[in-house]
Amino acid sequence: MTVSSALSDQEVAAIRADFPILGRRLEGGRPLVYLDTGATSQRPRVVIDAMRDFSENHNAAVHRGAHTLAGEATDAFEDARAAIAAFVGAAPAELVFTSGATGAINLLTAALGAASAGRGQDPSHRFAILPGDRIVVTQAEHHSNLVPWQELAARTGAELAWLRAGPDGRLRLDDLATAINARTRLVAFTHASNVTGAITDVAVMVAAARRAGALTVLDAAQSAPHLPLDLSALGVDFAAFSAHKMLGPNGIGGLYGRIELLEALPPGLTGGSMVEIVTMREATFLPPPHRFEAGTQAVTQAVGWAAAVGYLDALGMERVAAHEHALTARLLEGVARIDGVRVLGPADATDRLGAVALDLAGVHPHDVGQYLDAQGIAVRVGHHCAQPVHRALGVVASTRASLGLYNTAAEVDQFLGALDQVRSYFGVGR
Ligand SMILES: Cc1ncc(COP(=O)(O)O)c(C=O)c1O
Repeated sequence: MTVSSALSDQEVAAIRADFPILGRRLEGGRPLVYLDTGATSQRPRVVIDAMRDFSENHNAAVHRGAHTLAGEATDAFEDARAAIAAFVGAAPAELVFTSGATGAINLLTAALGAASAGRGQDPSHRFAILPGDRIVVTQAEHHSNLVPWQELAARTGAELAWLRAGPDGRLRLDDLATAINARTRLVAFTHASNVTGAITDVAVMVAAARRAGALTVLDAAQSAPHLPLDLSALGVDFAAFSAHKMLGPNGIGGLYGRIELLEALPPGLTGGSMVEIVTMREATFLPPPHRFEAGTQAVTQAVGWAAAVGYLDALGMERVAAHEHALTARLLEGVARIDGVRVLGPADATDRLGAVALDLAGVHPHDVGQYLDAQGIAVRVGHHCAQPVHRALGVVASTRASLGLYNTAAEVDQFLGALDQVRSYFGVGR
């Protein structure tokens, strides 16, 4: 990652003023220190306002109905698609709205499952995963990019293989040669781990998958909010991400697919809004992206999400990334000075995002979280929906501070001070 000019203190102060929730006072008048953006981000006023305006003035179901509101809602929905697609380096038709990253990956596994169950002469049979084929994942995956592949492997008789995480949480790329074999049909991997923060070398993964003729699926849930993202330049075949982690609302996310793949892929879900002609016996399907959007769409959320990417775009993702990079470096340097802290992930900020999970000499993460909460500091505790990587790193759970563009150096220092108090309270290092 290239580090460009970060946001100034004045800009961060102005950004904070855009987020109503950051002005909230907790019990005892304590200001909120929100270090849980990895789980879900907070929303700027423009996102809240865009959704309110849509609800108050334009709400209607899209792609059906001939009335004025239906037309306005459809325009708003498709404009949102175009804006979000451009933000991630995709064409509008390459962005399928889903319920989130989890919804996107499950939609893809359902579509691949349908292709696998089809007949040999079906055009979609090129996607079929057959007994003895291989699906490759990694030990660093969120359960959302692991369990659906386990299920697809079980349904198709495919074998599941994975790259291991090394002691610093980074993927062991030397595993690629053995994990990806001639029967590998698909490689699914995270762009950045929500536990270790490690950024994956996408180019190496894509090159290895392509050599085997395998499809690639990128979990961009953690990268889309924090890095400039150009999915077509990365060369992945599919990608998944969620609005609620990138300043948008919950209940919506995206499945990216290269257009020639989406055109050939059968639908994963069926029903209204995705068909052309329906008889009592069969149906024909719309082209992508609508073929993959069965049911009434989350239009209000799409409008809010578009406002969120507009907000991020206006700041510039290079500068957002540079600001968070500086905070991540400060956080990592600070925790390295606290006795008994072990970071589950790379110890320095190179090629790393600001999700910093740590173990405090075996003190239960729930105790750490409770102590921090009493000081107004919100962190995540537990396994963060990523049990295998915790197990690989020798723990069952951790405490995770995760940074966002609205965090400040003072908040990082407050976290470090509070963590040191927890250490002292539990007698670590005595
Ligand atoms: C790396 C990663 N992938 C996938 C997900 C799932 O996202 P969602 O719950 O929004 O579907 C998350 C959420 O924490 C994540 O961090």
